[in-house]
Amino acid sequence: MIDSMKLSQLISADDIQTKVCALGEDIGKKFDGKELLVVGILKGSFMFYSDLIRAIDMDIYCDFMGASSYAGMKSSGECQLTLDCRTPLKGKHVLLVEDIVDTGLTMNFLKHHVRQRGPASLSTASLLLKPEALKEECDVDFVGFEIANDFVVGYGLDYQGYYRNLPYIAQVQNMN
Ligand code: IMP
Repeated sequence: MIDSMKLSQLISADDIQTKVCALGEDIGKKFDGKELLVVGILKGSFMFYSDLIRAIDMDIYCDFMGASSYAGMKSSGECQLTLDCRTPLKGKHVLLVEDIVDTGLTMNFLKHHVRQRGPASLSTASLLLKPEALKEECDVDFVGFEIANDFVVGYGLDYQGYYRNLPYIAQVQNMN
């Protein structure tokens, strides 16, 4: 059990749900009439992903990929694929769904991986984006909230596996 973290709410559960509905509508408009494969990036996006796909009012196909680059509260600078998508991507309209884009390394790594498989198009969505933390250029088509360069947890995001079940996003205030 982790008991030395001080958390303060940054984005409420209601604000998240409002934003997720708006993103779902935008995605539905963009891909109207197309066959869309929505790929959740595990583990952090599982909660955002499950709310987002229910806010997309069209038939979609679901699959998952896994990536890991974080150690504690810092990016390790190296990204690894922990789970690959089983669905053939060639000719598909693919939407990658991330919890957060921090340095941009993971999203760019996954974009590169998907592009090599010849999708018809590749788009990206992330609930959170830390513009000041970007270490490389990383365009994200659908962004929920831009936040400061602070470590956050909740709504799928973790610290050492904890806090994913919080229904809101919280900022980590300090550690002792
Ligand atoms: P990036 O490769 O640095 O953009 O980081 C992407 C991944 O790092 C995310 O999918 C998260 O798993 C993790 N991450 C980045 N920032 C945070 C944070 O503030 N809290 C929890 N996880 C984070």
